[in-house]
Amino acid sequence: SHTFHVALLPGDGQGPKLASYVERTLNLIQHIRRDVSFNISTHDFGGAALTAGAGTSLPPSTIDSCRQSDATIICQCGDPRYGIKPEEGLLTLRKELGASVNVRPVRFPSSQVVQQSAFRAEVVEQLDITFFRDLTGGVYYGPKQEAGEDGEAYDMTKYSRPTIQRLARLAGTCAMQFTPPKPVHSIDKANVMATSRLWRSVVTEIFSQEFPQVTLRHVLVDTASMLLASDPLTLNGVVLAENMFGDILSDQAGGILRSPDILASAAVSSIDRSSTSPGIFEPLNLKPREKLVNPLGVIQAVGLMLELSLGLTAESDALSKAIRRTLDPVELIGSDTRTADLGGTATADEFMNVLLHNLDYYLEAVNSAQL
Ligand code: IPM
Ligand code: MN
Repeated sequence: SHTFHVALLPGDGQGPKLASYVERTLNLIQHIRRDVSFNISTHDFGGAALTAGAGTSLPPSTIDSCRQSDATIICQCGDPRYGIKPEEGLLTLRKELGASVNVRPVRFPSSQVVQQSAFRAEVVEQLDITFFRDLTGGVYYGPKQEAGEDGEAYDMTKYSRPTIQRLARLAGTCAMQFTPPKPVHSIDKANVMATSRLWRSVVTEIFSQEFPQVTLRHVLVDTASMLLASDPLTLNGVVLAENMFGDILSDQAGGILRSPDILASAAVSSIDRSSTSPGIFEPLNLKPREKLVNPLGVIQAVGLMLELSLGLTAESDALSKAIRRTLDPVELIGSDTRTADLGGTATADEFMNVLLHNLDYYLEAVNSAQL
């Protein structure tokens, strides 16, 4: 039996409620799976830390706990009442944990999502993009100057060969896990930016030397944005991008599935489980809304954690099946398990109850299969 340490950061907004759903999910998994147990500890982060008087959105004790855990889950952050401070904490945590690679899968978790999209069903059904975004470099962390008397401000972007090489290698490794290998689309603005020209040449070098079987295409960021709006399937496969381009494009791609609350995001230092540094897992949309509608984003973050950081693939698989089953009910005629963002009437609690019931079923199935 193995005990996994999970640092749970509810953050602000509806974070505490979302955190209780994460706990229920992990508790169910350890209850049913004989050889898995979780040690969950909760820590102040974001607006909650500011309210608690920590004087910072990321107290040092929270950083330490995350560092000592196998994985960190962030539920929500960015309550506008606190200005930009919660975001600062997020950026510092990524840097402190060395979580430099952002993995964001954009594929539909159920046919309900397909029906809600403004895109044709065939398009959404076939959409399958995994974003690899650099998370600890570029304009986010470069030298910057707030506007002073002179009314001028700047943010500088900077990339170095090793950073680009690392990310390109991880994207290539991911592409190679499929037969045939998935194509890789590398995003840049090489017609204008020096960092992009470096990006393009380093990515080209890595793929020709280390992943000759992978089809590599370079796509200008403005073209990529247009393709996501007009013909998103042309970007199916792996999309490799620097920090800000990847931020914007992954949100845009998430929008194809209509609800902002159904996808998740992982920040890791590698994609093989031999890595000892803990990953950070979050819903793709961290920003609190007026009320909690759909907890799916944070549950998908749990799924990514099980898969990428903890190596619990049978459990993450069971969770995916349970999500699909919950949203695509075959027998549950008359009972609506879809939340309002997906056109249904279920509350977050009702959705979670059915989801956990289904998860129970699929976890028992894993047990039986292993007898
Ligand atoms: C994200 C978020 C953050 C980012 C913000 C909140 C700093 O948008 O995780 O994509 O831009 O990285
Ligand atoms: Mn973003």
